[in-house]
Amino acid sequence: MEFTDVVAGREAVRKFDGRKPTDEQLAQILEAGRLAPTAYNKQPQRVYVLESDEALGKMDAVHPCRYGAPVVLLVCGDRAVTPDLDGIPTAMVDASIAATHMLLAAYNTGVDSVWAGVFKVEETKKIFGLPDSMIPVCFIDLGFRSPEYKGNPQHTKRNPLETMVTRL
Ligand SMILES: Cc1cc2nc3c(=O)[nH]c(=O)nc-3n(C[C@H](O)[C@H](O)[C@H](O)COP(=O)(O)O)c2cc1C
Repeated sequence: MEFTDVVAGREAVRKFDGRKPTDEQLAQILEAGRLAPTAYNKQPQRVYVLESDEALGKMDAVHPCRYGAPVVLLVCGDRAVTPDLDGIPTAMVDASIAATHMLLAAYNTGVDSVWAGVFKVEETKKIFGLPDSMIPVCFIDLGFRSPEYKGNPQHTKRNPLETMVTRL
């Protein structure tokens, strides 16, 4: 797929039909996360693949937004691997970049997704038994959109470029 089509076409999918991505699709998605740029190339991104009923149930206990996805990535950044920079949690920034790579790779390989931001951080760490240094950044639901899904109306709502860009 053309890069511009991937960037424009990816959208938040909030109803999945239950079919699982193939191993090859999943491998391509994870590889895109592995190749993401990271500060000082420390590579603190860590990805937990939730695919068992038990693991998916744990997500359901801490987040309402699985939407029937059969596979979910819990994307984290390990602060033990890379230090904060001037108060900014670099591990979190790096994990976000890796997550974005994986969202785009998912669309490119024909898999739908949605980013579900972690808000119950401590509960999420506890239920998945994450080490203290691990910051859970997001869940990425993966699957195939249900025919009933009408699309995300927010997807076409974007600010004009001038809101984002200041030329100096
Ligand atoms: C940091 C972040 C947190 C988000 N959290 C959620 C969430 O918890 N649940 C959800 O359904 N969508 C969530 N989204 C998806 C956004 O609502 C969605 O990306 C936005 O409306 C733009 O739509 P689009 O992705 O279809 O272009 C999140 C996206 C980001 C980047």
